[in-house]
Amino acid sequence: MAEKTSRIPGFYKLPLEERIRIVKEFANLTDEEVELLKRVGALDLRTADIMIENVVGTFPLPLGIAVNFLINGKDYLVPMAIEESSVVAAASHAAKLCRAGGGIRSVATESIMIGQIQLTRVADPYGAKMRILEHKDEILRIANEQDPILVKLGGGAKDLEVRVIHSRYGPMVITHLLVDVKDAMGANAVNTMAEAVAPYIEEITGGKVYLRIISNLADKRLVRAHCVVPKDALGGEEVVDGIVLAWAFADVDPYRAATHNKGIMNGVDAVVIATGNDWRAVEAGAHSYAARWGVYKPLSVWEKNENGDLVGTLEMPIQVGIVGGATKVHPLARVCLKILGVKTAKELAEVIGAVGLAQNLAALRALATEGIQKGHMKLHARNLAVMAGATGNLIDKVAEIMIKKGKITFHFAQEILEKLKRGEPIEE
Ligand code: MEV
Repeated sequence: MAEKTSRIPGFYKLPLEERIRIVKEFANLTDEEVELLKRVGALDLRTADIMIENVVGTFPLPLGIAVNFLINGKDYLVPMAIEESSVVAAASHAAKLCRAGGGIRSVATESIMIGQIQLTRVADPYGAKMRILEHKDEILRIANEQDPILVKLGGGAKDLEVRVIHSRYGPMVITHLLVDVKDAMGANAVNTMAEAVAPYIEEITGGKVYLRIISNLADKRLVRAHCVVPKDALGGEEVVDGIVLAWAFADVDPYRAATHNKGIMNGVDAVVIATGNDWRAVEAGAHSYAARWGVYKPLSVWEKNENGDLVGTLEMPIQVGIVGGATKVHPLARVCLKILGVKTAKELAEVIGAVGLAQNLAALRALATEGIQKGHMKLHARNLAVMAGATGNLIDKVAEIMIKKGKITFHFAQEILEKLKRGEPIEE
């Protein structure tokens, strides 16, 4: 059988049914899984009712497939759930550019999450810190007692870090329980462990514990993605310079860095959501990591190497799982994980990091050259045409005329549609 490739030229031009067929073949989807993709109510009300409280419905989003991704030498079709136009097309385009340089390398660390235990009201905070560290083995034992399955899989609480911080209301001793959560996102496991060890920490210190909760600044669960894009693929060294200058702007200006990182999160969140993961956790981790030195910075770096080619690197926490929570309960999340074909949470995080880097490249390339509105407007025009009531071939026809005339408005879409339906000419 031929090697599977995600390089699919013209994927966006294919009819929807054909796109589904290609994805089915690529990911060996069953007929039932394909039916789920097509079904409007893929998340049935009964399942939704188990997932959260007070359910009255479900809330669908478009699910697109980004093509062309070559990550660590493996081809991926990437499912992205997102309401914003152009993101999936941009990711696919940037993935193609990265492919020209051998694809994207992406490496995640182990899945270590941090559980925080906040100890207050101790007379000797540094003495308390020592007592906690001296009892490390017992604390880890209590923590690991909570999750024998995780421990059996090689995960569990592995280490402690203890800090004394000085708050407005006096010193606090903050214990960090470092837990390898393996293929889970980990919040449940970590929170259970943090709650379980708290009474023992109170006992050995004489203090009072208040908070026992995971930290979303997951700086021990990082992904590092890296690509080299040949200058010719980008359209020359001028474009490389433009992208590097765009990064340099973000590096010294938080107003720009926020938008730069938003562009990264367009890609990251879309995959996080498609796989049923907690995108608020990933967002919180990303932005707190970007501000870890007290100044808000871009999560990526773009440089020019000695050949004049573009070099990109991205480093950020990505706290996602492939077991537990919605990743298993949501029927479409399961299909999306199958399309990705990832075997571990680490691999999923590596793919997401690579998508974040590609998404960032796509935005900076457009911004440093023709601007982003051109691409946006094409889809916007199609949206307006649909809103105006166009169907079938008329959608593209109405959109094309609006773009040609440089007038992309709802009223104009309606006017063109009326004329086309009546067979009237549209004046030049
Ligand atoms: C739009 O959703 C994202 C961008 O603004 C990102 C960026 O400016 O880098 C295009």
